[in-house]
Order: sequence, then structure tokens, then C-alpha cells
Amino acid sequence: MPNIKFLFEELLKETTDDTTAINLLKEIEAILAIESNSNTDDSITDVLLSQGVAINPKLAAQCFTDYLRTHRFMLGTYQCVLQLINQGIKPVQILYAGTGPFATIVLPLLYLFSEDEISITTIEINSNSYTAANLLIRKLKKEKYFDSTLLTDAITYSPDREFDIIISETMDKALTREPQLAIFSNLINYLSPTGQLIPECIKVDLVASSIYLEKDVPYYCFDDKETRLVNHKHRQFIDNVISADRHFFETQTLIPNQSLFLKTVKTSQITENLNELIFTTELVVFDDVVLLEDDSTLTKKYICYSFTAMDKGKEFDVHYLNNDSPRIALTPKN
Ligand SMILES: C[S@@+](CC[C@H](N)C(=O)[O-])C[C@H]1O[C@@H](n2cnc3c(N)ncnc32)[C@H](O)[C@@H]1O
Repeated sequence: MPNIKFLFEELLKETTDDTTAINLLKEIEAILAIESNSNTDDSITDVLLSQGVAINPKLAAQCFTDYLRTHRFMLGTYQCVLQLINQGIKPVQILYAGTGPFATIVLPLLYLFSEDEISITTIEINSNSYTAANLLIRKLKKEKYFDSTLLTDAITYSPDREFDIIISETMDKALTREPQLAIFSNLINYLSPTGQLIPECIKVDLVASSIYLEKDVPYYCFDDKETRLVNHKHRQFIDNVISADRHFFETQTLIPNQSLFLKTVKTSQITENLNELIFTTELVVFDDVVLLEDDSTLTKKYICYSFTAMDKGKEFDVHYLNNDSPRIALTPKN
């Protein structure tokens, strides 16, 4: 069996291209499947929250195979830890909210840093995922890297200390369905002044499109370089509707069931043949480690509006709905 430490070293080299990263992650995945008993975990029950859905262990495990997503989150987190260690922070205090059954994003750190360089606290709300992640950590003999592993809700978690890095990947495209914003809106209160959120920024843009002329990427095959170029020809950028970064979370307080006004957008300049509005999502995971449209399920386009003859050219109010089915909503103004 190949050495997992070697595989992570190769994966996180600056020179590793997407195809190599995908192949290395497939090798790592095979090792984890053996170590984790994930094939015996048949729970498919989501946890329904007041501000979104915590996806079930089976789906959460499948996130691993959204390979460029997994690569970028592992790489961004690794580079962030490295930067903080070089600034003299030791141990780097990491809070990881929503581990899924593999604690995927922090796995490379357990092989590439020593126990006295990092200290990890994990939070997971799904008891099956929680148990599976703890079992995996024990099997890999990496318990010493963890300060605590908690079965709790990251939206309401209130520790009595701060962290240097807060990681959470609890999102879907265009910030639909999952509680990423509610989680970061709470956890920002426990980020140290020089600390780092991962992802660093989630950007959603509103774009007009002629959607039926667009190309779609095959599901779960994200090393397709062409789609973005083709689709660009059928689109017109309207506005950025949200850039959820540290500044956003420090200046906006999200409360349950809130309809948070983001901005008003104009559609008067849209070219005549563009009849749909879509949200596109991009993530800055850390620094120059990014996930662009169609790199992952998180950054797939989301069709949000089809114009009628009545509302084309109108202004639209944009809100973030922070309820049990979170999403960004457009409302035409009279
Ligand atoms: C999209 S999966 C990601 C799993 C893993 N972090 C990865 O990157 O592959 C999100 C995980 O976050 C958990 N989760 C969602 N909302 C949560 C909450 N409010 N508190 C704690 N965990 C949560 C889900 O149960 C699920 O295991």
C-alpha cells in the first residue's frame, strides 16, 4: 500500500496539476475506504436545521470525490497553516466545523505537521458522521492532534476561546440549502484578530444568460477546461450580489428567519436575447487557491430567474433568506 504521507506531500506540491491531484486523491480515497468502514455506514438521513440542512454521512462522504474541491480545500488549509507557523504561531489553533465521516480537509495536516505545531477542535452535528470521523482518527493513530471532537451545532457553538483558523465547507452552489453563512456568522466571534476563515471568501455573481445555448459539465467530472469559455459567449455580467468574507461576517449579523437585504440590481441594460438570470459562485479558499465556476459542485451555475415580458428591464431586490431552506432570492420591484 502506498505511503499516505507521501501521497499528501505529492498532492500539495505547487507543481501538482489537476489531473495528478485527482489521481492522487483516488489513491488516498482507497486507503481511507479501507480504514474507515464507510461502506458499512448506510445512514442517509439529513439533519434538518433552522438555517439549512446538514447533509447525511453518505453524501458527506461523497464530497471527497468532488476532487478539485477536496484538493483546493486541503491545499488552502495547508498553506494557511504554513503561513501562520512561519509567523511564529505555535500551536496553530484550528476549528473545523462539519467534518463529515472523514475529517477530510484536515487529514493532510496530520501527516505534514507535528503534534506540537497544530491543535484541532472538530464539530459535527450528525452522530453517524461524528462517530465515523472519530473512529478514522483513532485507526490512523492521530488522536494527539485533536484538542476536542464535539458532537454539536456549529451555528450555536460558543467556546470560551479564539482560534487561528476556522474551516467549514457546509455549502452548496449559490449558497443554497446548507448553513455555511449561519455557521460563519456565529464562528466569526471566535476568530483571532489575525485569524483566517477557510474559505476566505464566497462570491456569488448575478449574470444574464441565454441558458439553452450554454454547455453543461458532466456531473462529478470537473477537469473540463472548455465550458467556461463556451458559456462566457452567452452571458452578460450584471453585478456581484454577495462577497462573504471576514468583513462581511464582522459587519452583518444573521438571525434565524431573517431576510437580509443585500442590494438592488438593474436589468435595464441586458441584451435582448438573454432571458434567464443565473447565479455563478466562486470561492477564494485561501490566498490564490480558488475554485472557479465548474471546478466543483459548489461552483456550478444556479438558474434563478426567467424573465417574463413584464419584468425584463426592472430593478430587482436581492435578499439572503436565512431560513430552513437558505438561498439568495430576487424580487422584481414595481
Ligand atoms: C458538505 S459536508 C463536508 C464534509 C467534509 N468537511 C468535507 O469537506 O468533505 C458538511 C458536513 O457538515 C456537517 N454540518 C452541517 N451543518 C452543521 C452544523 N450546523 N453543525 C455541525 N456540523 C454541521 C454535516 O453534517 C456534514 O457532515
